[in-house]
Amino acid sequence: MTKPLTKDDYSPSDVTVHRDPARLNRVVRALRAAGRNVALVPTMGALHAGHRQLMREAHVLQNTVVVVSIFVNPLQFGPSEDLDSYPRQFESDVDICREERVGLVFAPSVEDMYPEGAQVTVHPGPLGDELEGASRPGHFAGVLTVVSKLFNIVGPNYAVFGQKDYQQLTLIKKLVRDLNFPLDVVGVPTVREPDGLALSSRNAYLSDEQRTTAVALSAALTAGAHVSAQGADAVLKAAHDVIAASSGVELDYLELRSPELGAPPENGDARLLVAARVGSTRLIDNAPVLLGAGDE
Ligand code: PAF
Repeated sequence: MTKPLTKDDYSPSDVTVHRDPARLNRVVRALRAAGRNVALVPTMGALHAGHRQLMREAHVLQNTVVVVSIFVNPLQFGPSEDLDSYPRQFESDVDICREERVGLVFAPSVEDMYPEGAQVTVHPGPLGDELEGASRPGHFAGVLTVVSKLFNIVGPNYAVFGQKDYQQLTLIKKLVRDLNFPLDVVGVPTVREPDGLALSSRNAYLSDEQRTTAVALSAALTAGAHVSAQGADAVLKAAHDVIAASSGVELDYLELRSPELGAPPENGDARLLVAARVGSTRLIDNAPVLLGAGDE
C-alpha cells in the first residue's frame, strides 16, 4: 500500500523540493496511483528561458505533475571540463520552477546518486563516440547513466528534453527504446535569442565580444538551410563560409546527418550540426534541413 501523501511530500499550490531519492520515488508513485501523469524535466540547474519552455511543454500534457531534477552530474564531465565552475544558482532555479508551476524539484547530492562511485554505467553504442563524443570521451555514458537513474528514481511517464542537445536527445530516445523504459520522450525545439543564438547555460561564460561572435553558429545553420534545395554540398559550403568569415570561432565539426544521426540522405530530411569554441567556451547548435526539395 502506498502511504498517503502529506503537505511536506507534495503541495498542489507550491513547489516542493526533495533531496532524498527514496522519498521522491514514493511521492511520485502515490501521485501516479492517484491518476496523475508525471513529466520529468532533467536539468543541471542554471535554468534559463530554454528550460522554462521544457516545463511549459510538460504542462501541455493533461493532469500532469511536472518534476524538475537539478543535478550537476560529475559523470558526464571530462577531467579538463567545467565541472567545478559550472554555474550553480539553486535558490533562483527553485524560484523559476515555482513561477512555472512545477510540482516537485528533485535535487539529490552526488553521494545520494553515486554512493559507491559509478561502477556500472550505460554504454551509448557507436553514436556515443561521434560528433560530441569524439571530443568528449565518456560524456554520453555519463549522460545515459544519470538519465537512467533519474528515470528509475522518479518513475515518470513522460520525460522532456531540448533539441538543442540533439545528439543527447537522439541517444536518450535509443536508450528508452533499447532498454525498454516505460515512458515517452518529448523533444522540444531550441529557444533562441532574437539574433539567433541558442540559449545555453554556458552562454554565461561569454564576454560581450564573444557573445557577439557566438552568433556565427546559428548564422551558419541558417545560411546552410537557405540553400538546402541545392543539396548537401551547397549546404555545407554556405555554412562553412559563415564560420570562416567569423574571426574568434574555432570550428570543431560541421556535419550533415540523417535525423537519427546516421549518414545523411541525398534528398529529404536531414540535420545540420555544429560545434565550435568561442574563446574557451565550447558551444553547439543544430537545425533541421530539407535536402534537395527544390529538385522536385
Ligand atoms: O542536458 C542536460 O542538462 C544534462 O545532460 C542532463 C540531461 C540533465 C543529464 O545530466
